[in-house]
Amino acid sequence: MVNFKPTLIEQMKKKIINILFIIVLNAGFFPPISAQKKTVTQKVDSVLDLMTLEEKIGQLNQYNDDWTVTGPLILDSSKVSQVQKGGVGSLLNCMGTIRIRSWQKVAMQSRLKIPLIFGQDVIHGYKTTFPIPLAESCSWDLEAIRLSARISATEASSAGINWTFAPMVDIARDPRWGRVMEGAGEDTYLASKIAYARVKGFQGNNLGDTNSVMACAKHFAAYGAAIGGRDYNSVDMSLQQLWEIYLPPFKAAVDANVATFMDSFNDINGVPSTGNNYLQRDVLKGLWNFQGFIVSDWASVGGMIIHGFKKDEYEAALSAITAGCDMDMESRIYKNNLAKLVNDDKLSIDFIDDAVKRILRKKFELGLFEDPFKFCNAEREKIELNNPDYSIAARNIAEKSMVLLKNQSNLLPLSKNTKTIACIGPLVKAVMQNKGFWDVEVPGIDSSYVVSQWDGLKNKVGNKTKLLYAKGCDIEGDYREGFAEAVSIAKQADVVILSIGERRDMSGEARSRSTINIPGVQEDLLKEILATGKNVVVLINAGRPLVFDYTADHAQAIIYTWWLGSEAGNAIADVIFGDVNPSAKLTITFPRSVGQIPIYYNHFNTGHPPQNDSDRFYKSAYTDLSIFPRYEFGYGLSYTTFQYSYLKLSKRKMKTDEQIEVSATITNSGKYDGEEIVQLYLHDVVGSMVRPVKELKDFKKIKLKAGESKTITFLIDKEKLSFFNQQLAWVAEPGEFEVMIGASSKDIRLKDSFELIN
Ligand code: NOJ
Repeated sequence: MVNFKPTLIEQMKKKIINILFIIVLNAGFFPPISAQKKTVTQKVDSVLDLMTLEEKIGQLNQYNDDWTVTGPLILDSSKVSQVQKGGVGSLLNCMGTIRIRSWQKVAMQSRLKIPLIFGQDVIHGYKTTFPIPLAESCSWDLEAIRLSARISATEASSAGINWTFAPMVDIARDPRWGRVMEGAGEDTYLASKIAYARVKGFQGNNLGDTNSVMACAKHFAAYGAAIGGRDYNSVDMSLQQLWEIYLPPFKAAVDANVATFMDSFNDINGVPSTGNNYLQRDVLKGLWNFQGFIVSDWASVGGMIIHGFKKDEYEAALSAITAGCDMDMESRIYKNNLAKLVNDDKLSIDFIDDAVKRILRKKFELGLFEDPFKFCNAEREKIELNNPDYSIAARNIAEKSMVLLKNQSNLLPLSKNTKTIACIGPLVKAVMQNKGFWDVEVPGIDSSYVVSQWDGLKNKVGNKTKLLYAKGCDIEGDYREGFAEAVSIAKQADVVILSIGERRDMSGEARSRSTINIPGVQEDLLKEILATGKNVVVLINAGRPLVFDYTADHAQAIIYTWWLGSEAGNAIADVIFGDVNPSAKLTITFPRSVGQIPIYYNHFNTGHPPQNDSDRFYKSAYTDLSIFPRYEFGYGLSYTTFQYSYLKLSKRKMKTDEQIEVSATITNSGKYDGEEIVQLYLHDVVGSMVRPVKELKDFKKIKLKAGESKTITFLIDKEKLSFFNQQLAWVAEPGEFEVMIGASSKDIRLKDSFELIN
């Protein structure tokens, strides 16, 4: 239990300071922080000492402001008066300096004038929309990812926002789960690096800077492992899986000094996260010494009653606050029950004080006490929301995020002298679809600034190229009347670009799907177009890996575009015509069928592993389907080719306190300049527990001119060799380790081994 009881002298000192402080507060005058000569902790304590129990509980509530709604809404006409009484600590879904200023003014009418924090799901951009996070992760470009978060934070903070509910750092191995779009894919090592980069990007150098927002690592924990890929579903997993696969990206966020965490909706091994002592108190606030605060997910405190974990709101409030959930998002359960729990002697005030202090600390660090209107500068908002540099950055990261899956006979890049191109499909002229699921509806701004694929292609080609268009069919449904027109323009063209996929809201929160095929008759349309004998470049737009066997087998070229954001069309045209050489690689495995799910590269070896696809007799295989994925983790093509050679290990035996240097030479053996993502995998050959067949432990993204070679080096240390053993401890066990360097998790080009010795 937390205990912060001061001594008697300390209490007297504080009283005097506080009397002065309250005079200052009521005068509405705040001396600059430096002049106050207090540490943040002292300032937090001074404010806390002034607060009544009701005011303290007020800080623990977050309400929706209804500008947009991102969960089941509670109709509440008393929000203004509650804020006036200091009954609310934070609002979400409130945007724009005008609106935020007016809410902050209401908060300034409260007795202690404690400012509100404004939170928002700024997941892949505020005004400028970047690729969805899963797409961005395929760039493996940590600097570009940091920059996209940085720009998002700059725009959002200029519009009054102090807190984004991002990054989502949930590992996801099941593409039926709609929220795969929001994370960094299936691999723990890569996702941890990306989590770190995103937190740094959002928070900038200092939370007190006007262009920083607090980040929020979510959803704690293991939300991505929902059984059956059904959103909000239960999670059942071993502690080894939890610690090795699902927790490290959260730890990386803590290492990046993330300001906040969000609980997940799921129960994990029978205990809902919001009431989970082990996760919140023992691991996050205990072992990891996290100093920020934890917010529930939308009404997840009440969710514990529906789970059947708590009898009523009174018990749910007690469970959540004692387990470590500091702020209640949009349920009113803290507001309605915490005071009674304290008065009934069921809950020590220390729990409330601890939660309040964590929240106040962040308000101080953001500089909101110093100036509650610090983020309400309309002039700055106007400038930041019209900064052309941000579109350039969005185009750049979009180019790095789309994955070239197939390029038969080097159909791509297309020549800029191509005479006639038929652009077909329901997504060619789509505009808002490109923004993906978590696009923000920015008040007073024309958020529809998005470059469609049609416009991007038009911007790119000169007068000599004719672009023809036919929609062909819808995304869903079986409308085939458009096929004839599509086939007719295909016949007139030299090449066809066919843009198909999901709708943007088919993946995202509460968008789980039991079939993940390309919907409707879109692949039938492709069949008819291919029957004309024309070459077809298929663009697949989606928020998750889809199943598209026919397309994979028959189309000549495939680019997986995901949802690329505001500059989608320009970026796609850059890649199609070769101004940019694609370099992205998949960060999630693409199955051949839903029947293979869950499917991921770093699985264990069984005692019966098949050697190849036809090896199914008494093997861990399906009798009716391959066990091998359609496209593996780490896969992605370029317009050029890369050769890997000269693998060198600095030693053959490594002691646990030493490192091994692994180097290799990579040569661009093709005709185009390009970038390669070189991947280092390790395999612990024999362990006291079964180990994955391989695990990504490092990577390098390198630029090589045509014909150029570079030698790259990886360092292997004990940490990269460790796992969570049966005794629940991290260990690196002596023995043989295989070292693999590859262009994907399957395409291993170089291999060697070394021995770890005591
Ligand atoms: C519920 C989602 O699970 C969470 O990720 C989001 O931040 C909140 N709603 C607020 O919109």
